[in-house]
Parts: sequence; structure tokens; C-alpha cells
Amino acid sequence: MKDGRLRRSCQIAGVAGLVLFLSFAALAQSAADASEFEKGRQQFHRTCAQCHGRNMVSSGVTVYDLRKFPIDQQDRFIASVVNGKGNMPSFKDALTSEQIRALWGYVSSRGAVSK
Ligand code: HEC
Repeated sequence: MKDGRLRRSCQIAGVAGLVLFLSFAALAQSAADASEFEKGRQQFHRTCAQCHGRNMVSSGVTVYDLRKFPIDQQDRFIASVVNGKGNMPSFKDALTSEQIRALWGYVSSRGAVSK
């Protein structure tokens, strides 16, 4: 009798602990995403905004409007940034692949942290 009750409360404590652990893990993950996004945002304003506009706001007449870049084409994004395209220079020597990935995080989120 007593044993069963003890076991039940242990199970409940275990489940509660797991739920707590998972929510902390989720919280830590979204904090990591946010700082990755912030890295990309800052990098964008250092190396891309002079042509593509602050916060990606551009007329889209002489430069590509990055707010419209198809977010399912990560490979194309990376290739264009690495190799350059038309009047855009290559960033092969200027950026690491980690920096380009952070830029993709910023551009593919349309400039807003996903919550
Ligand atoms: C010197 C100005 C300039 C800078 C700096 C610049 N771009 Fe561009 N970018 C352009 C122009 C012009 C185009 C249009 C190229 C074309 O299609 O002829 C373009 C196009 C693009 C495209 C679309 C390419 C495609 O696949 O159609 C992407 C993505 C892009 N830029 C990302 C970036 C990123 C990220 C940065 C910062 C690392 C950056 N650009 C910096 C001028 C610039």
C-alpha cells in the first residue's frame, strides 16, 4: 500500500522533472537562435546594408530586394554570396562560412526573430 503510493509520487516527480528539463532546453535553444540571428543582423549591416539597405529595405530596382529572396533556396543564397553575382562582389575571402550561415539566418527570417 504505502510502497505503491511512494512509487506513484516518484513517478510524478520524475515526469515533472522531465517536463521542467525539456522547457529549459527549449528556452536555451531559442536564446541560442536569437543570438545567432543577432550575429547575422549585425553582419548584414556591416557588409551588405550599404547596397541592400538597412534592415533589408531597398527599392529593389538596382539591387536585389532580399526581402523577396526565396527562403527555400539556401544553396543559391550561399553560392551567390560566395561567388558574387552581376554587380555584387564575391565575399569568398571576406566572410567565413559561419558568418554566411548567420546571414542566411537573418535573411531567411525576413529580418524578424522567430519566437
Ligand atoms: C556592392 C553592392 C552589394 C553588396 C555590398 C552586397 N550585394 Fe548582394 N546584390 C547586389 C546586386 C547588384 C545584386 C543583384 C545581382 C544580379 O542579379 O545581377 C545582388 C544580389 C544578391 C542576392 C540574390 C542573388 C541571386 O541568387 O539572385 C543575394 C542573396 C545577395 N545579394 C546577398 C547579399 C549579402 C548576404 C550581402 C552581404 C554579405 C550582399 N548581398 C552584399 C549588390 C550588393
